[in-house]
Amino acid sequence: MIDSREEGQGPRNALLDVLNRRPALRRPMWFMRQAGRYLPEYRAVREKAGSFVNLCYNPELAAEVTIQPLRRYDFDAAILFADILVVPHAMGLPLKFEEGEGPVLGTVRSMNDLDALKPVAGSFEVRKVCETVRLTRSLLAQDKALIGFCGAPWTVASYMVAGGSSDRVQAKVAAYQRQPWFMALIARLVTESIDYLSAQADAGAQVVQIFDSWAGDLVGSELDDIVLKPIAAIVEGVKARHPGLPVIVFARGIGLNQPRAAAIPGTSAIGIETETDLASLPRDIVVQGNLDPVALFAGEEVARREAVRVCGGVDRQRHIFNLGHGIRLGTDPTVVGAVVDAVRRFDER
Ligand code: CP3
Repeated sequence: MIDSREEGQGPRNALLDVLNRRPALRRPMWFMRQAGRYLPEYRAVREKAGSFVNLCYNPELAAEVTIQPLRRYDFDAAILFADILVVPHAMGLPLKFEEGEGPVLGTVRSMNDLDALKPVAGSFEVRKVCETVRLTRSLLAQDKALIGFCGAPWTVASYMVAGGSSDRVQAKVAAYQRQPWFMALIARLVTESIDYLSAQADAGAQVVQIFDSWAGDLVGSELDDIVLKPIAAIVEGVKARHPGLPVIVFARGIGLNQPRAAAIPGTSAIGIETETDLASLPRDIVVQGNLDPVALFAGEEVARREAVRVCGGVDRQRHIFNLGHGIRLGTDPTVVGAVVDAVRRFDER
């Protein structure tokens, strides 16, 4: 028998249980980008905030959209509403989101640009995000976990070099050439990310995820030195300050190298992209993923079938059900509900 309460603590949470390798009452589940434009109630709050950036730094409204998906769906966790570009913004780069175009960010392309950047600790942006964490934790049901996050150095640097979304070619060339300013930028992002995640943990984040959405861009020694080692340094730095904080590493697209991400000391679970079969990974690691977000466009029946296939590939005691990448704009909220139902039914068989 598994008691639903832990001695002296709040109610059990399946996400925290699986991350800590304790028997969980059910398969934990949350979706990357679960708060967002596919939800009408998100669009209403976003309208009220005026812009995406205003929404990120308005703790009342950001806490509201963080909690919204949990009112609709039986998820085990909420993910802080913010963006990976909060870090470069807090470092002093101008940031705005153009309607339908994605982010527009100031650029870093030289040692001079790098030297002009400020530390994030104590900045307006980080203080507001931490207020959101604090407020969300106080409003969130006791049995739900709150996930904090940051972008990994490679992915964040790719936006800083390009000034927004791009094919990452400019950043890749700087990476291959090991440009001194680029390597210093990566090192700087390690330090800032440690401070940022630690501040989120201090404010009440119970898990953190490091998003390396473009990790699959780099190979060979650049994969080692610009993707994996910087992430390892962040995990080490955060765990030094918060030894009990579980860390999820999402190095999207590294495929056969995923076990190397799992081997980063202090990592509790790894996020897996849709393209990698969960059943192909070693059975001693906790994996998160990896339903294709596009399957949710193929109708309820296909989405359910694919959710069942994903669940069938991995034992629920070491699986966190999620998508292989963020939920897409235009996803039907009813189909999300069908997927949640399919996962719960699968485990009740
Ligand atoms: O629900 C959640 O997952 C929490 C909040 C969250 C957002 N972005 C909100 C958001 C998280 C965890 C992110 C991470 C993020 N942001 C990543 C890594 C994960 C991934 O999807 O690969 C990246 C690469 C970004 C950078 C970013 N933010 C881009 C490229 C864009 C524009 C593209 C788009 O989807 O519009 C954003 C904007 C963004 N971040 C939105 C949301 C809800 C949409 C903006 C809006 O409401 O107008």
